[in-house]
Amino acid sequence: MNRHGIDGAYIPLPVAPENLAEVVRALVKAGFAGANVTIPHKEAAFTVCNRVTDFAQRAGAVNTLVFRNGIEGSNTDGYGFIENLRAHGVNPAAGPALILGAGGAARAIAAALQDEGAGVILCNRTRERAEALAAKLPAAQHIPWEHRSQALSNVALVVNTTSLGMAGHAPLNLSFRFAAAGLTAADIVYTPLQTHFLKEAKAAGLRTVEGLGMLLHQAVPGFESWFGIRPMVDDELYRIVAA
Ligand code: ATR
Repeated sequence: MNRHGIDGAYIPLPVAPENLAEVVRALVKAGFAGANVTIPHKEAAFTVCNRVTDFAQRAGAVNTLVFRNGIEGSNTDGYGFIENLRAHGVNPAAGPALILGAGGAARAIAAALQDEGAGVILCNRTRERAEALAAKLPAAQHIPWEHRSQALSNVALVVNTTSLGMAGHAPLNLSFRFAAAGLTAADIVYTPLQTHFLKEAKAAGLRTVEGLGMLLHQAVPGFESWFGIRPMVDDELYRIVAA
């Protein structure tokens, strides 16, 4: 906002789940341009919206609200993930993608990759969750968690959407021994910026994509809808947020 001379503020508001609808309606009345919603409100936010985008429906979650002729809900997580890949010179449609995890982030990323034309293989510790997610994403396959390393021989992209590797969590253990040449490893974890998973991929000579870029890119469409200015995600912005 400083960069664009916008006289405004982005304010974190801790909201109890039972108060979400009331708080959002109060924000509209208070003259806010919109809001981001995050865990645990991403599913509940549907009920407060007057309209939601098709992609938010497929992703099963809303993360951006625009207050314009009512309340408009969208999901920019998939967009942010894809733009971050592109910013690293990675073609999202280069080949099948192996997605580790089966939570909300996995669903948005898998839907976005399918929209780009990539095949999607889901892999999650709890098999039932991978099955449930595959049922919501036509054409997505799923494989057992124990097969994740072998599966790297057949994919162009591997994405960690689990909480493994986050500060305070166990690392994601994956062997890149079978990795296809040209495999890209992408993490959505950004604390730390360089996870064990990314370090191992780099050590194996693979291209890596850090999670912080997704966070920056997913903010672009919301910012543009609220203020009419499309912000640039550049090295300077990356350094400021990384710091
Ligand atoms: P989201 O915010 O994406 O909805 P979540 O529902 O908390 O996140 O899911 C976290 C993901 O990390 C899940 O896929 C979880 O696997 P399970 O479905 O089996 O719980 C995964 N995860 C967390 N700890 C893990 C571990 N120790 N080993 C493997 N996967 C793990």
